[in-house]
Amino acid sequence: MKIPLVVGNWKMHGTQADCFDRARMIAKDLDETPASVEVAVAPPFTALAPVKQAIGNSKVQLAAQNCHWQQNGAFTGEVSPTMLRDIGCDFVILGHSERRHIFHESDVFVAKKMNAALESGLRIILCVGETLQERRKRQTLRIISRQLRIALKGAIKDGIDKIEIAYEPVWAIGTGHNATPEQISQVHAGIRLFLVKSFGEEIGSQVRILYGGSVNPDNAPELAKTANVSGLLVGGASLKPETFLPIVRSFTEN
Ligand code: 13P
Repeated sequence: MKIPLVVGNWKMHGTQADCFDRARMIAKDLDETPASVEVAVAPPFTALAPVKQAIGNSKVQLAAQNCHWQQNGAFTGEVSPTMLRDIGCDFVILGHSERRHIFHESDVFVAKKMNAALESGLRIILCVGETLQERRKRQTLRIISRQLRIALKGAIKDGIDKIEIAYEPVWAIGTGHNATPEQISQVHAGIRLFLVKSFGEEIGSQVRILYGGSVNPDNAPELAKTANVSGLLVGGASLKPETFLPIVRSFTEN
């Protein structure tokens, strides 16, 4: 089994200097006291270069928050997977609910981006999750299966080991209401079943399934122990090293 992965999604927060300092503090702390987890941070595009410089040769990896589905072309305002590799990114987050809901990114868009990102050698954190209305209608697993089926369509067997799935219920993002361990383990078990059915036991059982949505230092230890949780995707609480680092260490201390 792979070691857990903890990712800080910094969304649209921070100047280059803010992000550099935040990244340097995280990298320094993890170098001094290593944690037995993989760690990545996802700054805004404008801070990718300074954060790459700040993390240097440390264990902290670099993630982008989005990319386009072509490697170059006339797409004003977009950034391609090749450009992200060029700047030193290891990962890209795709299908985040803010992209799906605010920017109307469809499952098909996400699938195209997945293929382009894999082609360029990026690893992918693929976000899936239901809205509150969908949960109330008991459609959670149906919605997530659809998101997975379409996004992973082009993920050739060789690509699946480059993909992490992040379950982020839309109603838990930025609300202070995290999903309960029961809700999470139920959905993660459904995702695991989907992966095993689609890619076979050996490959499907290896894919990490992260949880995201109002993770903080208080709830992280319980989330880290929850069945089927192989990592965390952290928003607000990743903006300060003093709240992000205890979350990273919640796996080490289990
Ligand atoms: P919060 O941790 O702020 O709820 O955000 C979660 C998220 O969207 C991470 O990608």
